[in-house]
Amino acid sequence: MILVTGGAGFIGGNFVLNWLNNSQAEGIVNLDKLTYAGNMSTLASLDNDPRHIFIRGDIGDRALVENLLQKYQPRAIINFAAESHVDRSIHGPADFIETNVVGTFNLLESARAFWASLPVEKKALFRFLHVSTDEVYGSLKAEDSPFRESDVYAPNSPYSASKAASDHLVRAWFHTYGLPVLTTNCSNNYGAYHFPEKLIPLVILNALNQKPLPIYGDGQQIRDWLYVADHCSAIRCVLERGQAGETYNIGGWNEKTNLEVVNTICSVLDSLRPRNDGQSYAELIMFVKDRPGHDRRYAIDASKVERELGWCPAETFDTGIRKTIQWYLDNHDWIDGVVSGSYRDWVQKQYT
Ligand code: NAD
Ligand code: TYD
Repeated sequence: MILVTGGAGFIGGNFVLNWLNNSQAEGIVNLDKLTYAGNMSTLASLDNDPRHIFIRGDIGDRALVENLLQKYQPRAIINFAAESHVDRSIHGPADFIETNVVGTFNLLESARAFWASLPVEKKALFRFLHVSTDEVYGSLKAEDSPFRESDVYAPNSPYSASKAASDHLVRAWFHTYGLPVLTTNCSNNYGAYHFPEKLIPLVILNALNQKPLPIYGDGQQIRDWLYVADHCSAIRCVLERGQAGETYNIGGWNEKTNLEVVNTICSVLDSLRPRNDGQSYAELIMFVKDRPGHDRRYAIDASKVERELGWCPAETFDTGIRKTIQWYLDNHDWIDGVVSGSYRDWVQKQYT
C-alpha cells in the first residue's frame, strides 16, 4: 500500500489513475478533504477497483491519519494535498496556512510516529514524498539561470510562502528526526482533469463558450509548463530511486509567455473546432488587471533528476497541449460537473 493525500485533485487524481493503470501496482489509500478542488468524478473509473480506498478527511486530523497508517501500513506517503491557487491565496490566505503549513506539520508528526514504530527493515524502506512547487524560489529576471535545487527560497505570494514553509518543515523532519523524506519542486502542470480556475483549462473552456480569454497585465510573464503525466512519472521515479533527504526540481524545459500559451491554445482550437463565424479564437483575448505581486518568470533546471535518476519528460508542449485540448473536447460530463455554483461564484469574484 501507499498513502496518497489530495488524490481527488488535479495532479493527485492523475497520479492515482496513472498508478492503478498498472495492473501489478500496489493499492492506494487516498485521503482527501474534498475541498472545492477535489473531485470524485475524476476517480469514477476506480469505483469497482478494490485497490483504491478513498477516505474523506483532513491531513491535519492526527487521529484519523494515525489510524489509517496503523490499519494500512503503507510503505510511503505522497503528499499532494494543498490549497494550490495563487489568486485564491491573495483573496484569502488563511486556508493556505491551515492546510499547507499546519496540515503538513500534522501529517509529518503522524508519519514520524508511525515510522518510529516500524521494524528496522520497513523503517529503512519507508518514504515521505512531499510534492511542492517551483514558486518557492520566487521570480527570475529574463537573464537569470533557471531555478536549481541549491537556490535560496524567495516566495512572493501567500501560496508560495505557505509551500516554502511546508518544504522547510519537511527538510527539518529529516535533519532532526531522520524521517526519510523526499521533496519535489515542479513547474506549472497542465493536462486532463485540471480545474478551470488555472490559466490553461480556463482559456480552453472560455474559448469553447465564446467568452473573453483574460490575460493578466501584459501577458509577458513566463512559466515553464509540464504535462501532468510527466510529473506523475517523475514522482514515481523519485519515490523509487530518490535519495532520502534530497530535493529534486522537475520541469519540462518549456518556457512560454502567457500570451504564447493562450495563442497556441487558440490556434489548436481553430483547427480542431473552428468557430462558426470563421474568426480565430484569438479574437477573444482580453487584457485585464494584473495579479498583485505577479511573479515575472519561473524556469526550472531539471538536470539533477535527469542525471541522477534518469527521468525525462515524454511530451513537448506542442504534443501535451494538443492532448489536453482534445481531452477537454471529449469530456463534457466532467466539465459540467465542475462548473457548478461555487465555480461561478469564483469567476464572478475574480473577473468582474
Ligand atoms: P488541487 O488544488 O487541484 O488539488 C488539491 C487536492 O487537495 C484537492 O483534491 C483537495 O480536496 C485536497 N485537499 C486540500 N486541502 C486538504 C486537506 N487539508 N486535507 C486533505 N486534502 C486536502 O492541486 P494540484 O494542482 O493537484 O496540486 C497538487 C500538489 O502539487 C500541491 O501540493 C501543489 O502545491 C503542487 N504543485 C502543483 C502544481 C500545478 O501546476 N498545479 C505545480 C507544482 C506543484
Ligand atoms: P495559474 O494557472 O494560476 O498558475 P500560477 O499562478 O501558479 O503560475 O497562472 C499561470 C499564469 O497565467 C500566471 O502568470 C497568471 C496568468 N493568468 C492569466 O493571465 N489569466 C488568468 O485568468 C489566470 C488564471 C492566470
